[in-house]
Amino acid sequence: MTYEEATKLLAKCGQAHVLAYWKRLGKKDRDSLLAQIATIEPKNIAQCVKTLRDGAQVPDSSKGKAPKVAVLKGKALKAAVEAGEKELRAGRVAALLVAGGQGSRLGYDGPKGCYEIGPITNAPLFYFHARKILARSLRYGRSIPFYIMTSEANDAATKACFEANGYFGLPKEDVFFFTQGMWPGMTKDGRIILDRPGHIFMSPDGHGGLLAALKRSGALADMKKRGVKSVFFFQVDNPLVEIADPAFIGYHVAEGSEYSLKLCAKRDPYEKVGMPMRFGDTHRMVEYTEMTKEQCERRDKNGRLYFLYGSPAIHVFDRAFLEAEASKAMPLHLAFKKIPCVDAKGAVVKPSEPNGYKFEKFIFDILPNAKKAAFLAFDQAEEFSPVKNAEGTDSPATCKADMQAKWRRWLAAAGVTVDPALPVEIDPAYALDTADILKNGVCLGAD
Ligand code: UTP
Repeated sequence: MTYEEATKLLAKCGQAHVLAYWKRLGKKDRDSLLAQIATIEPKNIAQCVKTLRDGAQVPDSSKGKAPKVAVLKGKALKAAVEAGEKELRAGRVAALLVAGGQGSRLGYDGPKGCYEIGPITNAPLFYFHARKILARSLRYGRSIPFYIMTSEANDAATKACFEANGYFGLPKEDVFFFTQGMWPGMTKDGRIILDRPGHIFMSPDGHGGLLAALKRSGALADMKKRGVKSVFFFQVDNPLVEIADPAFIGYHVAEGSEYSLKLCAKRDPYEKVGMPMRFGDTHRMVEYTEMTKEQCERRDKNGRLYFLYGSPAIHVFDRAFLEAEASKAMPLHLAFKKIPCVDAKGAVVKPSEPNGYKFEKFIFDILPNAKKAAFLAFDQAEEFSPVKNAEGTDSPATCKADMQAKWRRWLAAAGVTVDPALPVEIDPAYALDTADILKNGVCLGAD
């Protein structure tokens, strides 16, 4: 992009001040500023300004009803597993990981996927995800392409981690990295914030940035070329997730669903999880911050929480649905933050109070657009224990304990007794469940 083109674009967006310090910039800073401006799309800027003016639109959730949630057992479970296995054997399933987050609560310096979580091996989170995909694809004799969304900040380090570890055994051609978008921060009155005289403050556009990034990168086209129909979506911080779980895939396909969600029972009425609710024929994710005390505490006639099932962000999407949604604008969510900025003289200021807005998109905002959505209950202890915080709940300590408890349950069911004082770890490529342990046997060893 040339200076003239940048001037025109910014004028069109009402952001001419971005070039205010142009004359004092050196060649390198000028080039990088032009590269940043080239990523700006006038329609996105207009959407940011409108969102700031009108406020983020939060629909009324008071009329929301609990969705119909399936609990699969016996014959229904068997049928779902068989249907899912058919999809896996036909090579119609992909895995999609969002790993572009900043992991600020964990305070880890690097991509969260590189965080070492293996109780014995210290293997990183990426290892457990990749090895599960490998095991599942070996079991069903077809590859499961693995799409990984990174951000500008962690893309290089994520790829380096996969390279250094030989892609954890996965064929390199089945792993597809793509980078999410960055959006400029703005003041309340809709002016783009410069955090240095020649530099726009930008931040990742949220996990909802996934849709635009899938399209832009060619990942959606790649899925189509490979004949993918169902896309299993998961987050980087949960090593318990059962990636491409046949029951979930099968239930999704059998229901003719475009967007399916695995849900687990809340541990307490105020647990901070999103709550899918039904509004007539559609569904919408209601964030915990939007729920009233009455909604949180409401009970059904059996004394159970009425809004019982929350979403830990484990989804299956129909590929064609993602494709249709990728061309639509998504709503923006605002985060009011302390953002470094420049004063009238061009000096950098670090504010002590929030002074500007970041914009994020959330993937679950496409739920109301699904012609058919399906909800499947699962047991939290089996599949969800995220690494969010450095200490306390949802921390590495709780996650490692939950991983080991799950492996111990498999071993016990396979008739293997393990000294409770010893740590346990199972390579997912060796065993995905008790059946694999029974088939492969167990070698209990020191170190
Ligand atoms: P979180 O909301 O837990 O955010 O992300 P985070 O960045 O990992 O952690 P904090 O809030 O800074 O402590 C949930 C999932 O969404 C991905 C994350 O990588 C994680 O898998 N994510 C989040 C993105 O891919 N991009 C984003 O912009 C935000």
